[in-house]
Amino acid sequence: MEEKKYIIPQQHQIQKKDRNQLHQHRSLLLWFTGLSGSGKSTLANLLEQKLHQEAVHTYILDGDNVRAGLNKDLGFGTEDRQENIRRIGEVAKLMVDAGVLVLSAFISPFESDRQLVRELLPEGDFVEIFVDCPLEICEQRDVKGLYAKARAGLIPNFTGIDSPFEAPKTPEIHLKTNEQDLEDSVNILYNFLKTRLKLS
Ligand code: ADX
Repeated sequence: MEEKKYIIPQQHQIQKKDRNQLHQHRSLLLWFTGLSGSGKSTLANLLEQKLHQEAVHTYILDGDNVRAGLNKDLGFGTEDRQENIRRIGEVAKLMVDAGVLVLSAFISPFESDRQLVRELLPEGDFVEIFVDCPLEICEQRDVKGLYAKARAGLIPNFTGIDSPFEAPKTPEIHLKTNEQDLEDSVNILYNFLKTRLKLS
């Protein structure tokens, strides 16, 4: 694109480090990835409450919510899912720069898309959390009733049924939500953050 030549990024006086100083904690992106029904939103929600009580500035970006607004033009084909994650990555990057601890809960089934978001952020600011739960269990839970509909052929490209989920190979944190209590999972995340949120 020829026009791109004429875009000159501005440097502002107040930067991320100043906002982190004001908030008295570092800002990061916690990227929860896993099947629908694996527990991403539940965990993000519980962790956020705990952090909020300790005056950490947080915000949750959640699949169903973002798809009702910013990404309402996108569906669930491969290209649309890529664009979904790309936009969320850019939004999360801005929010981390704004000094917020962002918790994102999206299936984000493709390794390459998650990698792309990791590379958007400064080294160490992207924390991948694999919310691991076998498909059979997610399907048994079927909190939203969507697996039953997908099995009945009513929802095409449903992750785990007729659309793939590429499990993270080296996530920073790996939680097995069918084997450990919710409380244990939240504590693992909380303990991890205690040091990571400290200003250096
Ligand atoms: S992602 O694959 O693009 O990362 P995202 O997290 O935004 O997905 O949205 C997933 C949510 O959309 C699911 O929790 C479910 O409620 C709903 N959904 C609707 N259609 C599908 C589908 N075909 N596959 C997966 N989830 C779907």
